[in-house]
Parts: sequence; C-alpha cells; structure tokens
Amino acid sequence: MSNARIKIDDLIGVINQGGKIKTGVDVYDDQDVLLLERDVLIENVRTLEILKEKGINSLTLDPGSQSGIWDAQGNQASISKDGNIGFETKVKKKHAPGSALGAIEKRLREIDSLKTIATQKYDHAKENIKRVLTDIRETGGEFDYDEVETHVSELVEFLTVTENPFSYLTKEIFTYDDYLYNHSVNVCAIGTAVVNLFNTNFSTVINDHLNAGAPGNSDPYDKKNNKEKNSYKCYHMEEIQEISMGFFLHDIGKVMVPDKVLNKSGKLTAKEFDLVKRHSHEFGVELLEKNKLKNAFIRNIVKYHHAPLYVGEDRGYPEERHPNDIPLYVKIGKLADIYDAMTSKRSYKEAFNQINVVTEIFRQYAKKDTMLQYVLHSFVKSIGIYPPGSIVFLRNGQMAYVLESAGPLVLPFTNVRGETLNAKPNPMDMGDSSTKNEFRIDNRRSIKTPLEVYNLLPAYLQPKTT
Ligand SMILES: [Fe+2]
Ligand SMILES: [Fe+2]
Repeated sequence: MSNARIKIDDLIGVINQGGKIKTGVDVYDDQDVLLLERDVLIENVRTLEILKEKGINSLTLDPGSQSGIWDAQGNQASISKDGNIGFETKVKKKHAPGSALGAIEKRLREIDSLKTIATQKYDHAKENIKRVLTDIRETGGEFDYDEVETHVSELVEFLTVTENPFSYLTKEIFTYDDYLYNHSVNVCAIGTAVVNLFNTNFSTVINDHLNAGAPGNSDPYDKKNNKEKNSYKCYHMEEIQEISMGFFLHDIGKVMVPDKVLNKSGKLTAKEFDLVKRHSHEFGVELLEKNKLKNAFIRNIVKYHHAPLYVGEDRGYPEERHPNDIPLYVKIGKLADIYDAMTSKRSYKEAFNQINVVTEIFRQYAKKDTMLQYVLHSFVKSIGIYPPGSIVFLRNGQMAYVLESAGPLVLPFTNVRGETLNAKPNPMDMGDSSTKNEFRIDNRRSIKTPLEVYNLLPAYLQPKTT
C-alpha cells in the first residue's frame, strides 16, 4: 500500500458510503495528544470529524498489513501515489474486517434472538411448575396435567429443533429464591437435550458396540452377558415428550417436604434426610397416583432419579432395582439433576464452576459402565463446555466472548490488563492447533456470564438487560 497522504474528506466519504478504515498508525494533534489509536477500526464518521475539528486534514496509512480502507462490501481500496482512493481496480483482498465482522454481528444477533426465544419458553415453563406446586399445596395433591403438557411441549420443540439449544438458556446463578422452579425447568432442558442428542448420535454406534460383544468387556449390556439387552432402542418423538414431562415433574414430591428442611444450611439430621429422600419414591409416586398419571416414563423418572447408577454407588435411593434395570432416560435425568444442583447457588452453597462439575461427573461415572460413557459424551456435547454467549479468560489474562461452542470460536474483548479493547478484534478458533499457548482458554478461571462483566463489554457485545 502507498504511504501517500489521504485527504480526511475523502476518508469521510468512504465511511459515509458504509466503508471502514484502519489507519495502522497512532494519530496525534500538534500538542502530542493521542487522538486515534492505530488499531481502531473506524466505522463512525464522527471519529474522522473530530480529527478534522482538531486540525487534522489528511492521514497517512501504515503501509503494513494492519491497515486498510474497505468499502461496504469488504473490498479493499487501492491508494494512488497522490492519495486518491480507488475501489474500481480489483486488488487482492486481504482479510477484510468489514466482511468478517459482518458475519460476527450476524451471529451475535442470532444468539441474541435465540436467547430471547429460549428465555420466553423457559419463563412460561417456570411459571407453570410454580402453579403446579401451588395447586398441589392448595388442593392436597391435584394439578392440571394438560397445562403442563402444553408448556413442556413448547420447551421440547425448542430443545429438539435448535442446534445446541441448552447454550441459549442462561442459567440463573445469582439467586436461589426460585431454586425448585428453576431446577425443574433446567433438568427438563438438559435431560431432554441429552436424550435427543443421544438418540440421534449414538444409537447406531451403540448397537454396533452392543452386538460386537467386545471380548473381556464386563459391560452388563454385553451380548455375551445378557442376550436380551443387546440392542438399544431409539426413542420416538412422543416418548421424548413423555420423558421430558418426567424430567419436568421429577421433584414434584418435594412439595411435601417442609421448606425449612429443603433449604437448611447446616447438615441434615438423619430424620430430616430421610424425609428429603422420600420426595422421589414415596411422595412423588403418591402425587402421580393421586392425579391418575400412569405413564411409565414419568413414573420411573420420579421414582428412580436418585437411584444408584452402578453397583456400589453410595447414597443412591431407593435401592430396590439393580442399576442395570434403571432405564437409560432415568440415568440421564439423574446426571442432569446432579449437574444442575451442583452448578446452582443454594442457600447453603455457591454455584460450582460448570467445567469442574462436568469433570467431576465424568470422573465418577464414565468408567463404571459403557452405556454411561455414551450418555456422558452426549451430555458434554449438549451442554457445551463453553456455551455461546459466555465469557472465558485466555491464559494471557484477556477476556473473550464465546461465539460458537465448536472450536470454541471466541472474540477477545479486553487487553491483558482487563481493559476493554477499542478495536473490534478478529475471532480466534481455539480448536486451531496453531493458536499460541498464551491465547488458549484458561480452564482454571471460571466461565462468566455477560451480565457479570457487563461494564467491560464493548457495546456490540452487551446483552439487552430488559
Ligand atoms: Fe430429586
Ligand atoms: Fe432434582
């Protein structure tokens, strides 16, 4: 690129026609006051007008690769020796921030609108479970099942049609007031997303595995050990709906346990713990019976969502069924339940970091049973370790916004001192092996939500807070 001086009025003309400019050089006034940083992408005409008001009538662009002038379509301009800007000559396009940022902004808008839809459906479902539990308290056990069905179907539709649906359901980690309601919807959302993904991704792989009868494998589902269980059946959509209903209602029996026991901050006495345990296999089942709900999916989830998942698992209840006889969807429900309980704030504990929780769940369950390993893979894939729209730290101390959980693809927005960057950066793919170590995600630091770091976010990343 030529380093000729370009008239500021010509640059203003470029911006007025939807173009963008990066000078690549710092611009100072005659008092040596910095007016414009070299890596600011100028998109707003006001920036150039201020320079003009400060007496700057022309600019020189850095001849290196960090600068440029682009038109509204992202075509890079050529600059003649006497500073004329030309778009008509076809020049080789280097990375044009106009087009890259256009795609980012489109994605940000998509994330935003999917979050709005998810939040609406989430709130409807939450209001519904609130009403169900209030009805049970007031009527001594009855609730409107048809209404539950309507709200759960709404949520299920979103969860099964959207890619990475769970990423758009922002989890409440600041308060614990509505824990039981939030928890019911969260377990329904996570559980349904996992069952759905498991269904579509793993059924063939699992059937191959089960029928191969891997030698030396002690998997109870192994063909050699158990001839009846050597095939995995896909769930139909109607069954997924019923399973989701079960996840939604799994803790319904908690309505029979006094709040002071459920929210007790100290250790529960043996008697209190026994009362809490009865919420599933006793109170929950009684409430289903009272409402004449005989569906086996719902009943199994309500009754066994705390049952042991492998032989020898402590603290599981009731223990009347062998872990092999606990249906797969119930196991998924139990993992979703543990994940949500651990990543939620309660009256007696803070929310744990979701990466640590997933690692801990993996550590406890993955090696116990081959089927559980497949479930856990779907689990991690569904919830995404780095959900789009969350905030991570890079190892060099920069903060970055997650654009896509695949990769993940992130957009750094602070410098290493934690100060907001003026310029819009290019996204970085963490899955790219050439990404330097210092730019990788720092897993020791917890993921934050945009609301937690709202003041540091550049305007284009700030979520609507209404
Ligand atoms: Fe429970
Ligand atoms: Fe639960």
